Amino acid sequence: MTTDQIRAEVNRAQKEEFIALLRSTERDGIENLINYLENKSDFFEAPAASKFHNNFEGGLCEHSLNVYKNFKNLIEMKQIELDEESIVITSLLHDLCKCNYYIKEERNRKVDGVWETYLQWTTNKSPALPLPHASRSIKMIKSYIPLKFTEELIIFYHMGPFGGEDYEYRNMMQLAFEKYPATLLFYLADTMSSYIDEKTLED
Ligand SMILES: [Fe+2]
Ligand SMILES: [Fe+2]
Repeated sequence: MTTDQIRAEVNRAQKEEFIALLRSTERDGIENLINYLENKSDFFEAPAASKFHNNFEGGLCEHSLNVYKNFKNLIEMKQIELDEESIVITSLLHDLCKCNYYIKEERNRKVDGVWETYLQWTTNKSPALPLPHASRSIKMIKSYIPLKFTEELIIFYHMGPFGGEDYEYRNMMQLAFEKYPATLLFYLADTMSSYIDEKTLED
């Protein structure tokens, strides 16, 4: 088996795991959302990032599953009350805004004095919804399923201090971390997944 064939096999298994988990929530509208992911978006082919963690096809689905495992562990470790359904919804969908967002662009480079063309991931500079990262995910999710208030908070603050620089954002984020500790744990789970569990492929 080649490396590409192994990756394709991993992607297929992770897609199945992702869909089964999402379906297990039985949230109103979930089948329409699954249909969107499978048939109207590139979710299962998309990378998690263009240059950093999991920058390969299937990287976004794998990242979402990594966040699910880390978040679930942290919630259990700190004995925070949060339904399994909410753990699944927030983990698997927090980066929905990355659907139809990454594109492969042709670039040229000189290797040993010879020019060659290669493909590099880059981002869509004008997504259909001109909203920042977390708000765009929330808007997209809510066009298919309802979100509970805590789930919306968790997704809104999932970038932690990197989600906004203004004074009001930082104050409210700290308040959310204090009053709803699951929001802090989710930020940690997302960061742990990106920095510890996932790798960056060089071109
Ligand atoms: Fe994100
Ligand atoms: Fe993420």
